[in-house]
Amino acid sequence: MDKNTQDELKKEAAKVAADKVQAGSVLGVGTGSTVKFFIDWLGERKEKEGLTLKHIVTTSSRSKKQLESYGFKVDELADVDEVDLTVDGADRVDSQLNGIKGGGAALTLEKNVAVNSKKNIWIVDESKVVDHLSGFKLPVEVLPVSCMQVKKRLEKEGLNPEFRMNGNQKLTTHYGNYILDLDVSPIPVPAGLADYLDHTVGVVEHGLFLNICDEVIVAKSNGTIQEIK
Ligand code: 5RP
Repeated sequence: MDKNTQDELKKEAAKVAADKVQAGSVLGVGTGSTVKFFIDWLGERKEKEGLTLKHIVTTSSRSKKQLESYGFKVDELADVDEVDLTVDGADRVDSQLNGIKGGGAALTLEKNVAVNSKKNIWIVDESKVVDHLSGFKLPVEVLPVSCMQVKKRLEKEGLNPEFRMNGNQKLTTHYGNYILDLDVSPIPVPAGLADYLDHTVGVVEHGLFLNICDEVIVAKSNGTIQEIK
């Protein structure tokens, strides 16, 4: 799929999600190119119908800046009780609505917002939908202090970790950590890998989002929208 077509699909999925946002609610807004379209649609609703929200929290400084450019006030997650709905993108999603996220290195904040949301909707183009989680390296955020030891441990497990780079420097996350991308595709037992990573000292968070998503809005190249719940 070429980038223009993919962008058109992302835009369509984003519009369907933006139309579901209820005025006066607490909204979580994720990160990425699909979410960028979602924020544009929210901005349009604000301009056309004066959409107001009780609170908005977001998962990256990029999304925050864009929301503020439309005049939305953005709060910190710690300042709100619970989020009614979070809309985010995903890198892969399987038939059980489990996903890989973190392509934009924002996985830690994304997971924190997601698990504190009553409902999570992901917006994707059809290229992201797979039977089993595969075709995208799994991002793992690690503390700099023990990153080499964690990398070695993951290598021994056959998970093929590589540091994500920004030029010739290790990419640094919002929290000052590094990302190891694991080359394991398909992921044979996602729950088993998630459990292992959850219990590995030095791992801050990983991009396996299991049993978190409630609904996926998929824009297809045949012009239809599929809502998987
Ligand atoms: C960022 C993410 C994004 O949601 C994911 O990478 C999808 O991005 P895009 O909409 O640009 O394809 O998890 O950490």
